Amino acid sequence: MLRAEDVKAYYETRRGPVRALDGVSIALHENEIVGIAGESGCGKSTLVKVLYDNVASPLRLVSGRAVLTRAADDTSVLAASGSIQDRWWRDISFVPQASMSVLNPVVRIGPHFRDSADAAFRQMGRGAFWARVREVLSGLRLGDDVLSAFPHQLSGGMRQRVVIALATFLDPRFILADEPTTALDVVTQKEILTLLVDVQRRMKNSLVIVSHDMAVHYQVTGRLAIMYAGKLVECGPTSGIFREPRHPYTRLLIGALPRIGQRGKLSGISGVPPSLLSPPAGCRFAGRCPNVMDRCRSEEPAVRSVGNRHVVACHLHEPVAEDDS
Ligand SMILES: Nc1ncnc2c1ncn2[C@@H]1O[C@H](COP(=O)(O)OP(=O)(O)OP(=O)(O)O)[C@@H](O)[C@H]1O
Ligand SMILES: [Mg+2]
Repeated sequence: MLRAEDVKAYYETRRGPVRALDGVSIALHENEIVGIAGESGCGKSTLVKVLYDNVASPLRLVSGRAVLTRAADDTSVLAASGSIQDRWWRDISFVPQASMSVLNPVVRIGPHFRDSADAAFRQMGRGAFWARVREVLSGLRLGDDVLSAFPHQLSGGMRQRVVIALATFLDPRFILADEPTTALDVVTQKEILTLLVDVQRRMKNSLVIVSHDMAVHYQVTGRLAIMYAGKLVECGPTSGIFREPRHPYTRLLIGALPRIGQRGKLSGISGVPPSLLSPPAGCRFAGRCPNVMDRCRSEEPAVRSVGNRHVVACHLHEPVAEDDS
């Protein structure tokens, strides 16, 4: 299991700390596809960085931690900060928005595989190692010839598939994909998403997909986390969230989805999220919320269970029986 525990992570800037994550907890289980949604700047990529233990200046982990354990009931923590990095590629891997950010432009594709998996290479031996690489490439409809190509010789879609191959060829338990298709055209986007989901179904690992596109979440995720201004505001089964979104922000995000055949005006979300340099007291969504009440401006809502592994942080929802999701 991989989880973030009450994580506060700030970017240190000259104007003060940008509170990109301000007390976020989330647990990822084996064999599931989890979506992370929310407007630009709400902290999605920062959460992925913390989960991947890729925290580097100016980002600072102020409190809380990311934990990777073998199983949900395992108390022996494999990794607190520092040692998740030892599990990169093997147990946990990352597909970034821009594939060029993990591919070295002056290194051919083949050595990227070799370099990200030294231990596996020694363990498997040369023959088995390259057989595995070829098998994964062909599953992503890439020929062996990409191994001798330089990154710039491949199209954007091919590069993204190479990065997916890199992220999956050692069968990691967790794959974190941060906007894996945003830079691609619509047709390639759909293809890449389908490939990622196929890989997850085959390997039964856990896939996290960050996207601001609610249609993507509806189509592929089993569980969905909604972030707003550095906070997790709602999390639960995707079907439940789309059927009955609890947080007014989630309702607006879903309401902003165009429907086929729709004639009327789209209900957008007016206003912008608050500055994370000096976030407001109370609920951070209060300034834009159609259901705002007095207490929302002073009292911060706690994350509460609304049953069925569904949690929400909103004063509209009083607690019911707790569960452990
Ligand atoms: N290197 C940085 N220095 C300072 N502030 C940063 C830095 N990177 C991100 N931030 C700020 O941290 C906040 C969260 O950023 P993050 O990249 O996690 O958002 P996001 O939800 O991934 O957005 P997007 O959908 O645009 O990718 C934003 O307010 C952003 O401006
Ligand atoms: Mg991002």
